Amino acid sequence: MKIVKQICELKNCISEARNAKKNIGLVPTMGALHAGHISLVERCVAENDLTVVSVFVNPTQFNDKSDLAAYPRTPEQDAAMLEKAGCDIVFMPEVEEMYPEPDTRQFSFGALEQVMEGPYRPGHFNGVAQIVSKLFYAVEPDRAYFGEKDFQQVAIIREMVKQLQLPLQIVSCPIVREADGLAMSSRNQRLNAEERKKSVLISKILLESRTFAQSNNVAETKAFVEENIGKEDIFRLDYYEIVDGYTLQPISDWNQTEYAVGCIAVFCGPVRLIDNIIYKS
Ligand code: PAJ
Repeated sequence: MKIVKQICELKNCISEARNAKKNIGLVPTMGALHAGHISLVERCVAENDLTVVSVFVNPTQFNDKSDLAAYPRTPEQDAAMLEKAGCDIVFMPEVEEMYPEPDTRQFSFGALEQVMEGPYRPGHFNGVAQIVSKLFYAVEPDRAYFGEKDFQQVAIIREMVKQLQLPLQIVSCPIVREADGLAMSSRNQRLNAEERKKSVLISKILLESRTFAQSNNVAETKAFVEENIGKEDIFRLDYYEIVDGYTLQPISDWNQTEYAVGCIAVFCGPVRLIDNIIYKS
């Protein structure tokens, strides 16, 4: 496994493989890797001849600078995990390499960015699109892998690929969970013992709501989740939305779509967690 820090070096390594007509897969990450990330890497390794994983804490997608400062960084451990997972090239650039000058590009994702995370994290998806497009230009992958844990992010990336007319396939991968159901996240490390214990309720309530949804309408199901989350003082709900999985717009009737997904963002103590559940697909 090669570890490279510069785009020109990265392009050199990849061009050999491309000339040999090999398929190239990319997994963008911000490091502090866990089994959720590794599931994407393993899928990429299985489906491509060459796997590139980027590890870069992208400053432009953090609307909260203290969140950026607190973001965990574990490069040695990440490299060891990636090697074990069969990654070929790790791209670990410095900020100056990705942003030699400020990126002034403004993307517009319309209704997709006006819901859920959009209003709570102004500029976040623009920053994600900036870095992911730069990575796509640097690697020119045939396939890129993203987790459904960040459900809205996948929809935004698909839309960006369409807008930029990039010739690559976006592959979305299911959420990997801890044994007790908590969706894996680099942020989980910041939960104290009490918060970690209570955080399991998020996935538990979502799962229960799927049974509840079988005999109740959309508004009742939404209220079921909001009320149960509200029972715990440790939680502060940002939103719970039941949406069409393609358009991300809230639905009011289960028959409105073939693909219904519930997306939650909730503070557990000081740590903001997101999760989602598919009601219908
Ligand atoms: P990061 O949070 O490091 O996540 C990297 C990828 O791993 C994302 O596609 C994310 O959805 C996926 N992932 C995280 N936790 C997961 C889990 N429990 N199960 C399955 N997949 C999971 O998302 C980002 O970084 C950044 O926004 C990035 C796309 C790299 C751009 O900077």
